[in-house]
Amino acid sequence: MEPTYDQIAEFNELYMPTAWDPLRDLVSDTFGDIGPDGVIIDIGAGSGLGSVLLAEVSNAEIIALEPSTTMRSMLMARLDQAGVLERVTVVADGVPEGLDGLPDRVDGVVAAHMLGHLSRPAQTSLLDWIATSLAPGRTALLTIEPEAPPEGFEPMVLERTVGRHVYRTTVVVGPGRVESLWEVVDQNQEVIRSLRTANTWEPPQTADIQTALADHPVEITEPEPGVALISKLSE
Ligand SMILES: C[S@@+](CC[C@H](N)C(=O)[O-])C[C@H]1O[C@@H](n2cnc3c(N)ncnc32)[C@H](O)[C@@H]1O
Repeated sequence: MEPTYDQIAEFNELYMPTAWDPLRDLVSDTFGDIGPDGVIIDIGAGSGLGSVLLAEVSNAEIIALEPSTTMRSMLMARLDQAGVLERVTVVADGVPEGLDGLPDRVDGVVAAHMLGHLSRPAQTSLLDWIATSLAPGRTALLTIEPEAPPEGFEPMVLERTVGRHVYRTTVVVGPGRVESLWEVVDQNQEVIRSLRTANTWEPPQTADIQTALADHPVEITEPEPGVALISKLSE
C-alpha cells in the first residue's frame, strides 16, 4: 500500500532530526549570508525542520511549500515554537502545481528528503524552475541519490522510545522502491499497531540533474554524497 503522510507522519517526525544533523553546516554555509530582502523556498517542507533551520541561519524571508495537511500542522507548531511564524509563508500545495505561485526571483531553494516522491517529469519541472528562478550567484540545496548507491540493501531499522512504547520502522530500499514496516511496540514486546507500506522512491543523481539543466547557466556539484548544490552563475 502506498503510504500517505497522514499515516506515517508521527514516525517521520521521530526520525527526521537525525537526517538533518549532517546538513546543518552546509545549510548555514550556503544560505547564511541572505538578508531580509532575500527569499528562500523550502520545497516539501514537511514538519519544518529545514524551514526553522533556514530562519535560524539567515535573515531571509522563507516560503514553505507543503501539500500534506498533517505535515503542515506540525510545520505550524514548529514555526510558532521557534518564534518565526511572521517570517515564513506556508503554501498548501506541491510540485509541480505550486511552483506557479512562487516568486519569479528567489535567493535560495531547499528540497530535502522529498525528491524521490516526485515523478521524473515533476522532478524535471522542479529543476527547470530552480535554474530559471534562482538569482545569479545564488544556490539550491537538494538531497539526491548518491552517485554509487550500495547494491543489495540490508533492511534498515529505525527506532525511538516514546514513553512506554517503542516506535520502530523496518525499511528495505530497492531500486526505485521502498518497502517499510511501521510498528508501535509496548513494554511486553507486543506489537500494538502496525502498517506495511510500499512506494516508489526515485531521487535523481547528480548526472540526472546535469542532463536536465544542460541548457541553463548553472554549476552543479555534489559536496557530499547524497547532497547536490545547483549554483546559478553570475551574469
Ligand atoms: C520525508 S518528508 C521530508 C520533509 C522535509 N523536507 C524534511 O526534510 O524534514 C517528505 C515531504 O515531501 C512532501 N511531498 C510529497 N510529495 C510532494 C510534492 N509533490 N510536492 C511537494 N512536497 C511533496 C510530503 O508531504 C512530506 O512532507
